[in-house]
Amino acid sequence: MNFKNKLEEYVNIINNEIEKNIIKDDVIEKKLNQSIEYSLMAGGKRIRPILIMTSYQLFKKDYEKVFPFAVAMEMIHNFSLIHDDLPGIDNDDFRHGKPTNHKAFNEATAILTGDSLLNKAYLMISKELSNNNENIAQKLEALKELANATDRMIIGEYVDTEFEGQKISDDYLEYMHKNKTGALICASVRIGAILANATQNDLEKLTEYGECIGLAFQIKDDILDITGDVKELGKPIGNDIEKNKSTFITKYGLEESINKLNQVIDKAISIIEKYENGEFLKELALYIRDRKK
Ligand code: IPE
Ligand code: IPE
Ligand code: MG
Ligand code: MG
Ligand code: MG
Repeated sequence: MNFKNKLEEYVNIINNEIEKNIIKDDVIEKKLNQSIEYSLMAGGKRIRPILIMTSYQLFKKDYEKVFPFAVAMEMIHNFSLIHDDLPGIDNDDFRHGKPTNHKAFNEATAILTGDSLLNKAYLMISKELSNNNENIAQKLEALKELANATDRMIIGEYVDTEFEGQKISDDYLEYMHKNKTGALICASVRIGAILANATQNDLEKLTEYGECIGLAFQIKDDILDITGDVKELGKPIGNDIEKNKSTFITKYGLEESINKLNQVIDKAISIIEKYENGEFLKELALYIRDRKK
């Protein structure tokens, strides 16, 4: 199966797993549940859960074992997007080609939807830990990984707001990107490997791969903010410049940002190429480099 079909297949699998957690009951908080569904099912690319599944598959076949972590990761990612778009952070009106959560519902609902998704992620893993104690040590390690990466993501988002409209050093910019976006992506690669009981040596190599594609992902996001097609991207372009954000584009310009993107992707590929089953993750690195949305 070619990469595009395989990717689509993974997206369908993840969507199906996420759907199982959507509450459609006629309860008083029905609107909150609809808001959760609105964001979770808006058409995200599912990169992070797919990374958990496919890094696990470098070592083991029974990838359904990682589903609770894959779904939890996507919930936390969606929490980060909803809060990132809020007026107090990026104040964005469109995502996935639709009004952002606070525009479709209201600010209070958007804040609480984010809170709820963050909590539901840990609820999901708590249930997995209490229902199934097979490989419990690995699961606890993966939980720590998720919590730590979420903490890093929040720190990165904080640094992002702190440096709005200010000059930023190279080091701080890289720190911001590695945290706000790199942390969840790298943790996804690591969680898959940890759950598959990979060796320390493999974990170190995959961490390096994860750090590279994580940084690359945000460099490309910055690039798409000026080169992207609004329709395809599903979110507005030119917002970073309008809001005086510190990005790779404002720091280095387009050409140098593309060079830096290519460098980190090449490095990621040089690592993953050595794995016998690494073809999909190699293609995924190229996809992150070449994506249009
Ligand atoms: C967007 O992430 C926010 C960043 C971290 C740059 P994605 O591009 O992975 O978001 P979706 O879920 O696929 O829309
Ligand atoms: C967001 O970075 C990173 C998150 C943790 C959500 P951006 O603010 O650049 O992401 P977009 O461009 O709004 O998707
Ligand atoms: Mg932001
Ligand atoms: Mg934003
Ligand atoms: Mg952006």
